[in-house]
Amino acid sequence: MCGIVGYIGHRNSQEILLEGLKKLEYRGYDSAGIAVFTKNGLEVKKAKGRLAVLESELTGAPLEGSAGIGHTRWATHGKPSDVNSHPHTDNSSKFSVVHNGIIENYLTLKEELAAKGHVFVSETDTEVIAHLVADEYDGDIVKAVQRAVKRMRGAYALGVLTEYEPDKLVAVRYASPLVIGVGEGENFIGSDIPAILEYTRNVFILNDGDMAILTRNGIDLQDLEGNLISREIFHVDWDLVTAEKAGFDHFMLKEIYEQPKAYRDTMGARLNDEGTRVVLPELKMTEDDIRAIRNIHIVACGTAYHAGLVGKSVIEKLARIPVETDVASEYRYRSPIIGKDTLVIVVSQSGETADTLAALREAQRCGARVLAITNVVGSSVAREADDVITTWAGPEIAVASTKAYTSQLIAFYLLGIYMAQVLGTQEDAAVAELLTAMQALPGQVEAILEQSEVLKAFAESIAKHDNLFFIGRGLDYAVAVEGSLKLKEISYIHSEAYAAGELKHGTLALIEEGIPVIALATQEELFEKTASNIKEVKARGAHVLGVVNEDELDLRKSVDEIFAIPKTMALLAPALAVVPLQLLSYYASLARGNDVDKPRNLAKSVTVE
Ligand code: F6R
Repeated sequence: MCGIVGYIGHRNSQEILLEGLKKLEYRGYDSAGIAVFTKNGLEVKKAKGRLAVLESELTGAPLEGSAGIGHTRWATHGKPSDVNSHPHTDNSSKFSVVHNGIIENYLTLKEELAAKGHVFVSETDTEVIAHLVADEYDGDIVKAVQRAVKRMRGAYALGVLTEYEPDKLVAVRYASPLVIGVGEGENFIGSDIPAILEYTRNVFILNDGDMAILTRNGIDLQDLEGNLISREIFHVDWDLVTAEKAGFDHFMLKEIYEQPKAYRDTMGARLNDEGTRVVLPELKMTEDDIRAIRNIHIVACGTAYHAGLVGKSVIEKLARIPVETDVASEYRYRSPIIGKDTLVIVVSQSGETADTLAALREAQRCGARVLAITNVVGSSVAREADDVITTWAGPEIAVASTKAYTSQLIAFYLLGIYMAQVLGTQEDAAVAELLTAMQALPGQVEAILEQSEVLKAFAESIAKHDNLFFIGRGLDYAVAVEGSLKLKEISYIHSEAYAAGELKHGTLALIEEGIPVIALATQEELFEKTASNIKEVKARGAHVLGVVNEDELDLRKSVDEIFAIPKTMALLAPALAVVPLQLLSYYASLARGNDVDKPRNLAKSVTVE
């Protein structure tokens, strides 16, 4: 996830580009850059680090001109560095490109262009686009971009400039967001509306395959065949704060709704073309290294630890390797028994959590190999681990983690399946079946989100309570623990998660008339046992919400309310069952009038032990 902006008009473009990038920094902040038509031609300035680094470099040597493009980066291909920053140019430096998205066939294109004499300086897929456009150019930038994008596979929102046609800014989108701002004597592009809202409230929102050719005095919209198309102008009447949340009231809700995309992006290019096998080219670990693993420790904090609880079941079930889970703040102090045949998997959204980092270092000190699952390329955890699987959830801004957690689940599924492939612990057909079911998950999450209103009423009723329980067995218990944390941290309602069969060993004493109990029953083989535990709490007066598979609605008779999730394979159910719990916490927090995105006493990234 990156942010792009562009401007062509009568004002100093540098200022407008930097202001736009500030609004887009939430989309990525490991480097930034701009390209401007100056009196010397197309000049580029870019720098690794926050936007402030670029700003200070430009203070001494501004780029003066009235047309330009800008970019803020969330590294995908290639680590954060000056050279991997955008804008990218071709060898003649006559073409400049900013890009948000991922070009899946960039290696093939790169090889082809290299054979023709193009020389590449970065590790990015975007640099290939700049060369490809230059290669296709024969005097018409619009046609060159059309030909180039037809050869690209993947997702892109692009801003393209060429020194040969300084009166044009070409923009095109496919599966990455892009809006066009309509001004007077000036026009704009941006990854989202806030980036340009200070300058215009009239925008076109491009569809996939739409192209916009911006000049100072007009905008032509075309499809990729060059046919003129028309899109309605959308008048923005939100204020800037609302718009940054893309119309959602809170970042948390926006991030909950971004989960289908996060699932798709995290699976992304990690399946083979047929979707029947997992490929993890990013792993340095060889197949022999995997065969040598005798045990696995999963170490993380909070929500990331809860993803690890699911990860343990996934890996044990699929790859048949014993797995232990630990909270990172305890790990170092329990003298873990590890060595070179132990794989330690650290899980961290931010990649900066001090406890997790300390556990990683301790594991390496003891000779173990460390694999990180993280959402931030270039973070400390990503840099220090021996192997990294990046979750492509995009920046998570709300303190309560949602899309990062579910992307971590997807990463565990991919890793578990990959290990099973190497170890031969699952039949090919079983792997293919699992992957088919995984590819259905994003659509199934969308179906759950469509029913969010159902949860609102239940959330409003639990908001009046001070205590409640989550119960479940097996993987449902792992999800219950996460549901309970989510509720606690943003609604401040005390809750406990219990393995449903454990209640009768003490906790049942706390069940009294009217207490809300959220019971998860998505695991077919444990269904009857969980149903009995539900009866035990019902008999003592609990008010029960059942979260069940859509084909197990029989439970309706034993519970007070029911929320059905689409049918999937039992192992994958956590990736669906947690979504109603996230929504429940969100609405309960809202009903209590709390600051949903910034709960009291908490911070997004905990860099102290
Ligand atoms: C809860 C939450 C925290 C984090 C924990 C670890 O919603 O977000 O429990 O999961 O602080 O953070 P990371 O994943 O950045 O290491």
